[in-house]
Amino acid sequence: MEPQLKHDRAREIKEFRETKAGVKGLVDSGMVRIPRMFVHDEKVLAEYPTNNNLLVPLIDLKDLQYGDHQRKEIVDQIRGALETWGFFQLINHGIPISKLDRLLECQKQFHEQPTEVKSELYSHDPKQSVKFFTTSSLDGNQPTDWRDTFSFRFPEDILDIMVYQQFAEDTLSGLFSEALGLNRDYLSRNGWLKGGRFACHYYPTCPEPHLTLGARQHSDPSFLTILLQDDVGGLQLLHQNQWVDVPPTKGALVVNAGDFMQLISNDKFKSVKHRVLAKSDVPRLSAGCFFNRSSKPIGPLKELLSDTNPPIYREIHLSEYYTDYTSKWTHGTRLIDRFRI
Ligand code: OGA
Ligand code: NI
Repeated sequence: MEPQLKHDRAREIKEFRETKAGVKGLVDSGMVRIPRMFVHDEKVLAEYPTNNNLLVPLIDLKDLQYGDHQRKEIVDQIRGALETWGFFQLINHGIPISKLDRLLECQKQFHEQPTEVKSELYSHDPKQSVKFFTTSSLDGNQPTDWRDTFSFRFPEDILDIMVYQQFAEDTLSGLFSEALGLNRDYLSRNGWLKGGRFACHYYPTCPEPHLTLGARQHSDPSFLTILLQDDVGGLQLLHQNQWVDVPPTKGALVVNAGDFMQLISNDKFKSVKHRVLAKSDVPRLSAGCFFNRSSKPIGPLKELLSDTNPPIYREIHLSEYYTDYTSKWTHGTRLIDRFRI
């Protein structure tokens, strides 16, 4: 990028942050042309075509309780989905739909309350547990996404989202472990599904949605991510070099493998890139639960390695991955690629 443009963007981002009002603050001010800092590179926006004929796997946990045979079938479906798509939608997961609706309702209330109240939590400090922000990099290296986020770490902050954590620990960790061909308690014993960050996103309406993105293409910094989306739509994942919609499905949770899962599974499970389109008509809500903590270094799991499957990554401490997280990110790369042997 030209130095002048980069500098201007850095200044624009700084001024934007000083408003502490987020993207929604801009929209509320009646702005009709989006500021330059939100304009994404058109080549990047048009890089891959969209294919609406492909369907993201939908996995039903209804029969999980009926025995080993049913469980094995579900494990096989999860393995297939994570090897090829990196994503699936999950229904009959056992978390009451009323709880999911309530979560979306609460986060809508948070984002739609007066700016003065929200701005008290406005922060970009990675160490701060509870905060409200718009992801942006102050060096002006990248355009900013059209979204605001309220996020907090867990399990320190006990809120109603503990149902997700319980679900991940009680159900998903066993299914994922078995899908990797390991003992049922493998992932949970390592504590990888115990803590992380919960992010409540608000994607305001956008007057020029074709110029920007709600979320740029990225893969997740997590072992696994559980995402709840409302009925608006806009989430797409990259499959065989095409964007495929993840259609809103009532009561469903979107589950995907993140970068750390790809690393420990030695590329068996894919941490697939995804993005969110901006929309002009209605705001969109989503809530993501990112399991992304490990007190010890992580590397490809010894149990999965052999002469024919040698380690692809070196062992890393998660702090190495998180160092300069936003500034190291560049379009087209994935942060774990830095740790390939
Ligand atoms: C994320 C993400 C998708 C969405 O937060 O990492 O990809 O639909 N969110 O909000
Ligand atoms: Ni993501």
